[in-house]
Amino acid sequence: FGKKISFHEQVKSTQDIARELAESGAPEGQLVLAEEQLGGRGRMGRSWVSPQGKGLWMSMVMRPNVPIHCAPQLTLLTAVALCRALKRHTDLPIGIKWPNDLLVNGKKISGILLESAAEDERLKYIVAGVGLSVNLTEADYPEELLDKATSLRIQAGRVWSRKAIMAAFLKEWETLYDLFLQEGFRPIASLWESLSVTLGKPVRFITPQGELTGVPIGLEDSGAIRVQREDGSVTALFSAEMGEPLP
Ligand code: BTN
Repeated sequence: FGKKISFHEQVKSTQDIARELAESGAPEGQLVLAEEQLGGRGRMGRSWVSPQGKGLWMSMVMRPNVPIHCAPQLTLLTAVALCRALKRHTDLPIGIKWPNDLLVNGKKISGILLESAAEDERLKYIVAGVGLSVNLTEADYPEELLDKATSLRIQAGRVWSRKAIMAAFLKEWETLYDLFLQEGFRPIASLWESLSVTLGKPVRFITPQGELTGVPIGLEDSGAIRVQREDGSVTALFSAEMGEPLP
């Protein structure tokens, strides 16, 4: 991963550039990096704060030869890789909130956005966008995000080398990706479960079909989360948003 890098000082979004490169045949492992994004995108149509020189704003082209329904597994894999790299690199209490947000002390430090193209039910390519807030200070965030978002610097009280973090992450990501290609999703799901900070705690999910309350208890092999309802039944959720933990 990252043997080919397209580096930019300022872009709208690294996702757009990586998608264009993927469309024109960029190889697996092609990385797009930017110092600053003016229109950084998050999940659910949200924007992503990406000030100059303060974070890892990157998108990676992947070309796994797998069916389209495996795409969510690759976002979970990416979150596990980043979480493991950061745990090794810092002593912060970092964990994963389903599906792929990294949290430190309840606040979001990183997000992952996966966009894919398919052909005949198989993935043609995936563009995995990763945003990691490294050296942002509170002044970099809009007021309304301060209780939800944080950075490594705010949490640890020191400045970090983005290069060193990126190198550790790319190495871990590639290792887990190879494991996924060889053994499938199960070993990755187990790692995800052990890093999750949200399993076992009752929470409200907002799904396209409405709200649902329950205790997340693990991952399915598909990448869906298993949620135990109050009546004991278990529902598997794919596309849902997880609310705050319930008292
Ligand atoms: C989320 O949690 O909502 C996902 C955030 C993803 C942000 C990254 S930053 C690099 C890449 N380019 C974008 O525009 N978005 C992703």
